[in-house]
Amino acid sequence: MISVSPRSATTPHLRACPINPNHWYVVARSPEVSTQPLGITLWKQKIVVYRDTQGQIHALEDRCPHRQVQLSTGKVTGDYLECVYHGWQFDAQGHCAEVPYLAANQKLPQCKIKTYPVQEQDGFVWLFPGDQDATQVELMGVPEWDHLNYIATVSLIDCQGHFSFLIENLMDMYHGHLHDNYQAWASAKLENLTEEPGKVTALYEAQSYYKIDKIWSISQLFFPALRRLHPEPLTVTYQYPHWYSTLGQDFKIYCLFCPVNETHTRAYLIHFTSLNAFWRLHKLPIPFRKFVKDSLFGSAQKLLDGLVVQDVEMIEQEQAAYLKNPEQRNFELNRTVSAVQRLIQSQFEQQVD
Ligand code: FES
Ligand SMILES: [Fe+2]
Repeated sequence: MISVSPRSATTPHLRACPINPNHWYVVARSPEVSTQPLGITLWKQKIVVYRDTQGQIHALEDRCPHRQVQLSTGKVTGDYLECVYHGWQFDAQGHCAEVPYLAANQKLPQCKIKTYPVQEQDGFVWLFPGDQDATQVELMGVPEWDHLNYIATVSLIDCQGHFSFLIENLMDMYHGHLHDNYQAWASAKLENLTEEPGKVTALYEAQSYYKIDKIWSISQLFFPALRRLHPEPLTVTYQYPHWYSTLGQDFKIYCLFCPVNETHTRAYLIHFTSLNAFWRLHKLPIPFRKFVKDSLFGSAQKLLDGLVVQDVEMIEQEQAAYLKNPEQRNFELNRTVSAVQRLIQSQFEQQVD
């Protein structure tokens, strides 16, 4: 272990700063993982995730120890993961459990591949890549996912940029300018900024276009003519390594991170519209409320996907400009951005202390 003091020569540049692996990261949505193995990359580590025949999810290094090919191109046979090349099979603990052509006088090879703590919660697959005890690290979770009062929409962010560019984008709400045509929020003004260990929270006063106070108000998501600007508090929180935001009482948004490497970030953006204001709806039978929730799933898709395309374009331009001239300095007026940068670097320093 090396010991690093803040801003020492060994602290990498922010735009190359590694993740702190001792957190739960989101690598997939639950339905994306089946008995067909799925290969993912979390901070340069190739990992295969799959379900066994009981539906339990496992995560192993995506590398067959025989000849180093990817296990994610294989298949699940019984409860073993089978390599496509020579058919060696591995159990969920990463041991070789079966070689189809093992001779009577041969023993199974004593190879073991790395396994990762993984769990399914709130519609997503969370993976812990670190070396600390994962059971001691809290998983942030998305409590609105199964809550009957929240309508969800999910959009995938896949951008060629370091995760610091994405989190700065999500924390600097002055960029409502970029999304003018989508009418997400307007006139943000930073009111308060708090920094705690592992967390930065910014409170903005902003104008929202939406007010979900009547059941038909949800149609504002589809019909711009129904929207009226009104002031609402807008909070954004970087709870390392993930992000969430609230806009008034009606909206909550999460961004769940899966940084791939220094120049590639994947993340899931989840937008919730709250039905909390409709007390009459809450008296209806649960199966009906579940039906309403499920039928309205994705109702903000056009809005969310549109915002993502615009944000990704900016992030990729920032990344390209950085690679072209890493010494070029920015001019920053929002102190939230430097707070976020401090948090990213302190998380790196924590893991090497
Ligand atoms: S490379 Fe995987 S079984 Fe041979
Ligand atoms: Fe944005």
